[in-house]
Amino acid sequence: MYTTELDKSPAGQPVTIEDPELLAKFEARVAADDFIEPKDWMPEAYRRTLVRQISQHAHSEIVGMLPEGNWLTRAPSLKRKAILLAKIQDEGGHGLYLYCAAETLGTSREEMIDALHSGKAKYSTIFNYPTLNWADIGAIGWLVDGAAIMNQVPLQRTSYGPYARAMVRICKEESFHQRQGYDLLLEMVNGTPEQKAMAQDALNRWWWPALMMFGPPDENSPNTAQSLRWRIKRETNDELRQKFVDATVPQADLLGLSVPDPDLKWNEERGHYDFGEIDWAEFYAVVKGQGPVAQERMSERRAAWDDGAWVRDAADAHAAKHAARAAA
Ligand SMILES: [Fe+2]
Ligand SMILES: [Fe+2]
Repeated sequence: MYTTELDKSPAGQPVTIEDPELLAKFEARVAADDFIEPKDWMPEAYRRTLVRQISQHAHSEIVGMLPEGNWLTRAPSLKRKAILLAKIQDEGGHGLYLYCAAETLGTSREEMIDALHSGKAKYSTIFNYPTLNWADIGAIGWLVDGAAIMNQVPLQRTSYGPYARAMVRICKEESFHQRQGYDLLLEMVNGTPEQKAMAQDALNRWWWPALMMFGPPDENSPNTAQSLRWRIKRETNDELRQKFVDATVPQADLLGLSVPDPDLKWNEERGHYDFGEIDWAEFYAVVKGQGPVAQERMSERRAAWDDGAWVRDAADAHAAKHAARAAA
């Protein structure tokens, strides 16, 4: 999910003057919808943007495992537990494909993980909100994975080959995630009045953060034009956000839940839903790490990394043993 470019190019970064001939060839290939592969020449700014975008995306996948992991031991049935476990494992896999794709651009896994753990790298703001009741697990699948799909389907045609190919598989899995969330909520809204109220409460809390997942409005998204030209991005933040609202409102209707936006209404002339103003002050605060559970997420994340050290060490030792045997 989660590919909004949250941070702008770091200030003071040297501007690379590229060879105009190579640049023209590169741009022609991109314009012709050719894939750019790891060994191909590419402008430095293209490489930097991709590393930032793909690594943010990878971080979001693995940080996204945390709020759902909290509910594994509290899933209400064996069936729901098995579904949730499978989904969380998928997210871990998404993180791995994406770290691999970013590595092909010349950055190492250690650098990326360090940047995440030191707070330098961003991940999707959505995971800095808490999961308070079981219906939140449904709302995350329905809305968060749903927003991710909106973002990611066009990325299957992004210009960088390894990223585009990773997205093909990820998108298939994300659509299972979206459906399991919706299915969970469907069961709750048809349950007791209390269960339906929990589903409504979850929608109330997740709706606006889900709209924020598409990133800042286009007029405040300075990298968008360049990213569109280089086909790193295929649609703007606002276009994707509108698509998401248009697709999701009828799904809320079907659940019998109301979207917490008094300004939401169908606009016959535009052929789209109009919706209320997003609280951008909240968005930027969460981007800066002031989300309700941002600190908790990062300390859990660092603890998971430390706790997993023995697995990485064991894998290294195993690989070294194999290499030694092969050499002998
Ligand atoms: Fe994912
Ligand atoms: Fe997902």
